Amino acid sequence: MKKLSLVVLISGSGSNLQAIIDAIESAKLQAEIKAVISNRPEAYGLSRAQQHNIPTIGIDHQQFTSREQFDLRLQQEIDALQPDIIVLAGYMRILTTGFIDHFFPRILNIHPSLLPKYQGLHTHQRALENHDRIHGVSIHIVTAELDSGPVILQGQFDVTAQDDSDSLQQKAHALEHKMYPLVLSWLSQQRLLLTSGQPIFDDETIQQPLSLDNFLEDI
Ligand code: GAR
Repeated sequence: MKKLSLVVLISGSGSNLQAIIDAIESAKLQAEIKAVISNRPEAYGLSRAQQHNIPTIGIDHQQFTSREQFDLRLQQEIDALQPDIIVLAGYMRILTTGFIDHFFPRILNIHPSLLPKYQGLHTHQRALENHDRIHGVSIHIVTAELDSGPVILQGQFDVTAQDDSDSLQQKAHALEHKMYPLVLSWLSQQRLLLTSGQPIFDDETIQQPLSLDNFLEDI
């Protein structure tokens, strides 16, 4: 089976990146990370990649005069690598429509909420303020509208009276670290197909997001 080739975009700690690296190294995921790219050259995730001999590219967005110029440079770096999939893993910059159109539908994002709830930032705080009892994580195809593309997989957890933003972040991370390797393994096995419409899983169009609860045995 041909390995799925990935470029992973990060801005920070890169714990999701680490989960993907671990899945590859333990042969749970047949994939190759061609490079990890960060818009913050000091991001810890770049060190994680280097520790596993994965090429890294830091492109400081502050050195560019416009978002379009930065994204064009990013696009050129990625085009040179010809990946199958672009994985946003804690990539905290809004992408231009030009960049998204160029790679659509091959950009995936992980977002810490049960989309369409809480697009944008501070999702855990907003779930607490709204007294939500259930909160979670979504993996979706990136489209031009922020955090609005077709959702592939969601994982959810209880919010208790003891929870604060930090504990919700920990709960979200625990699920995220299972979810990205799982979705990428479906892509590598061609169980999941990304299309310009709704994604297809096991020959059926995904109408409602798949639930992680139904796949825990596969992890
Ligand atoms: C993750 O929780 C991810 O869901 C979130 O950033 C975190 C990155 O953690 N992404 C977003 O908020 C995107 N809008 P990591 O750097 O440890 O993988």
